[in-house]
Amino acid sequence: MGEGTVERTLVLVKPDGVKRGLAGEILGRLERKGLKIVAARLVMVTPELAARHYAEHQAKPFYAGLVEHITSGPVLALAVEGRSAISVVRLLTGATNPQTAAPGTVRGDLAIAVTPNLIHASDAVASAEKELALFFRENDYHAYPRVDQPYL
Ligand code: RTP
Ligand code: MG
Repeated sequence: MGEGTVERTLVLVKPDGVKRGLAGEILGRLERKGLKIVAARLVMVTPELAARHYAEHQAKPFYAGLVEHITSGPVLALAVEGRSAISVVRLLTGATNPQTAAPGTVRGDLAIAVTPNLIHASDAVASAEKELALFFRENDYHAYPRVDQPYL
């Protein structure tokens, strides 16, 4: 395996994460891994934005509860950049159900219920592009070097 293509992905610290005071803990895990935060906003997700963001889940039984949760308070939206960032962030996130998510992951360490499972992370290049565009404009992104760049 090579060093991995640099990718951008969308992370949301969901309302449960913000309200529980875990936004910094989650952001810190991403930073310590060596991922770069290239854009950040605290956003109140409207029902319209939720419908676009979760369009793929519209027919599912958990959809109403999911929208109710994601609109229940502000989310911390982060654009995260790094080698293979999409799959790396998904690994740090852990399985959807925190009760079976591996220890060491955000959900495995810090959550217990499936709807308030603390974090959203894009799952593919196409969904990352679509979801980033819902939360950020081009001039929200900032390019800068990390001082540890040679090791990343
Ligand atoms: P996410 O999109 O938030 O990163 O999470 P994911 O890929 O691991 O899970 P996904 O299947 O995309 O589901 C999106 C969110 O819906 C809620 N959910 N509830 N009650 C349930 O069975 C159920 N299943 C999913 C979770 O909040 C999940 O993160
Ligand atoms: Mg998903």
